Amino acid sequence: MITRRNLLKTGGLIAASGAGLGLLGGYRAVRAAAPVELKARETAAVLDGTALTEGVMTWNDGPEPPVLRVRQGEPFAARLVNALAEPTTIHWHGLRIPNAMDGVPFLTQPYVYRDQSFDYAFAPPDAGTFWYHPHCNTLTQMGRGLTGLLIVENPDDPVFDHEVALNLRDWRLDGQGRFIAQFKPRDAARTGTFGTVKTANWQVAPRYDAPAGGLMRLRLAITDVTRIYRFVLEGAAALVIALDGNPVAVPFPLDRLELGPGQRVDLAVLMPPEEGAAVRLLNTRTTHPYEVAGFRAVGQPLGRALGDVTPLDANPVAEPDLDAATVIPLELSATAEAAPADNSFCGSLGYNFWAINKVPWSGDTPEPHAPIDELKLGRSYILELANRTPHAHPIHLHGMSFRAIASTNGPVLPHFTDTYMIRPDERVRLALKADNPGDWVFHCHVIEHQKTGMTGFFRVT
Ligand code: C2O
Ligand code: CU
Repeated sequence: MITRRNLLKTGGLIAASGAGLGLLGGYRAVRAAAPVELKARETAAVLDGTALTEGVMTWNDGPEPPVLRVRQGEPFAARLVNALAEPTTIHWHGLRIPNAMDGVPFLTQPYVYRDQSFDYAFAPPDAGTFWYHPHCNTLTQMGRGLTGLLIVENPDDPVFDHEVALNLRDWRLDGQGRFIAQFKPRDAARTGTFGTVKTANWQVAPRYDAPAGGLMRLRLAITDVTRIYRFVLEGAAALVIALDGNPVAVPFPLDRLELGPGQRVDLAVLMPPEEGAAVRLLNTRTTHPYEVAGFRAVGQPLGRALGDVTPLDANPVAEPDLDAATVIPLELSATAEAAPADNSFCGSLGYNFWAINKVPWSGDTPEPHAPIDELKLGRSYILELANRTPHAHPIHLHGMSFRAIASTNGPVLPHFTDTYMIRPDERVRLALKADNPGDWVFHCHVIEHQKTGMTGFFRVT
């Protein structure tokens, strides 16, 4: 049995946390004892493996945004400093934090203009794999690089021999590494526009070393604006231990799990015992499956077993009271309504293609938009969602977690989540307790869908 105490004794804990990962995983970990400065800026980076791309956006020094590591329940503070030529904000995706910290322009905070700053402070209540991104001119800012990982650690998390976190996303580049138009209107009205260069941690199919016969916690976060992944792991056995930042009740084998933009999965991976053996993570959702990242077994075999993984603690999410819950019907549909007036600093795409309950969101504007519905603080609700379109929509709620309780597509995974990918023509019931006051955005995380109408918000008072 691997316990934290055993690893502490052997010094293994160091290798399992920030410092060691920085060396092996190639990303920077920021541990937030003091306020973290996140400076949004432009940079240049090699993303396709050969050409330098100008106009990449990031926070801080690296082309890849820092991986923030925060302790569950402990105060975290970040100062967003804007060195971009346009306004921005930060939204902390999946975190159940106060509304004023949620990063949505007009609804929860003003834009942060160039050379201005905004202070975020909160104590994340849930441990797991989360991420952060702007909520202003989102298609461009996320498309150009502003998608970072935020890992909330529970000191009682099971200890692994190794950990790798992968930030999965594409880039829209031409053959010379230059950014091309972020979207095509006809694709925005369908699946969304796909990138041309597919990366993990800002590299095409990177390779990582992991201890032979060891247990690796592999955190996968889909921060792409469009792409749905169907994950297959070749060469190793793996169990899904958490989805969208929340533990699953019973870990299950990774068997072609499909996840959409915004979603995360945590895997316990048992590396093969043979030194040099290769493990490949594939996305098989595309016509031509491709390698997302690879892992090579190194060192003397550790002889672990998947059964050695102790369960993750449940997060303290309030159980909805299903008997007393109010049902809210919600319909996702296409719309042909006229283009929105572009009075939004936060980037209108100039089209309406989608609607929630027949209303296309008019953009982030100073004029108050009516909420989809008003929820009473402390009451339980069932969002009865119907997808009237032939496309999948990873629908995302800010500020509160919900669980799927029934779907026309068969059994649902009953874990808490912030994003549910509803399939074409599916109807699903999502239950939640409205325990966080404020205006909470509800939108599709295919950003072109979000930005062309499939957005609204709930008011909890
Ligand atoms: Cu990651 Cu409003 O979303
Ligand atoms: Cu959508």
